[in-house]
Amino acid sequence: MRAGVLISGRGTNLQALIDASAAPDYPAEIGVVISNRADAPGLDRARSADIPAVAIVEPERADFAAAATAVLREHRVGLVALAGFMRILDTGFVAAWQDRLVNIHPSLLPAFPGLRAQRQAIAAGVRFSGCTVHFVRPEVDTGPIIAQAVVPVHPDDDETSLSDRILAVEHRLYPLAVRLFAEGRLAIVGNRVAVIGWVGPDVALLNPAEPLVSAAG
Ligand code: GRF
Repeated sequence: MRAGVLISGRGTNLQALIDASAAPDYPAEIGVVISNRADAPGLDRARSADIPAVAIVEPERADFAAAATAVLREHRVGLVALAGFMRILDTGFVAAWQDRLVNIHPSLLPAFPGLRAQRQAIAAGVRFSGCTVHFVRPEVDTGPIIAQAVVPVHPDDDETSLSDRILAVEHRLYPLAVRLFAEGRLAIVGNRVAVIGWVGPDVALLNPAEPLVSAAG
């Protein structure tokens, strides 16, 4: 199965997908990378991996959607993966790719949709955050959840340190989610995704963890 990846920036998640697809047993390959910005560093990651890299710089949302659809069709893509794609997509595009369009977001959705999710998490004082891969629906950062990864939020975290911790698990989660899709192991049932052959952790995490350091010193 070929995936098309849409980016706007540095493309580290794209790189994780490129690296994963280099393994002989990985069931997906990256057929084309599209950026809405001509200067996105992720385009060079694609070119370095001999993957077609296309910049589509169109001020009108519908024009971008039409051009992107043509490129995705040309490369016979079966899945579109948004990876740091920072533009709201045309509703017609979302409808056309329904259930074949996925996104990664740096929070445990439905908490903290939208921009700067890591900063939102710190401001809210949550003890855990993470990332979510989900099927895309017209409303931003909504849609059936495929997979999530959790990281702790430490008391001295700032937006950068939390973003780095989350990004490290994004790079593991996105290739996993794309693999599940490519293997046909995802069934959307209403707003939920049934994963065939699901193996999940059976642990509880506490944060703060026990034993606590004595406050009295
Ligand atoms: C990631 O944090 C992703 O979750 C969000 O945008 C960021 C993209 O980073 N949607 P990169 O371009 O993949 O490095």
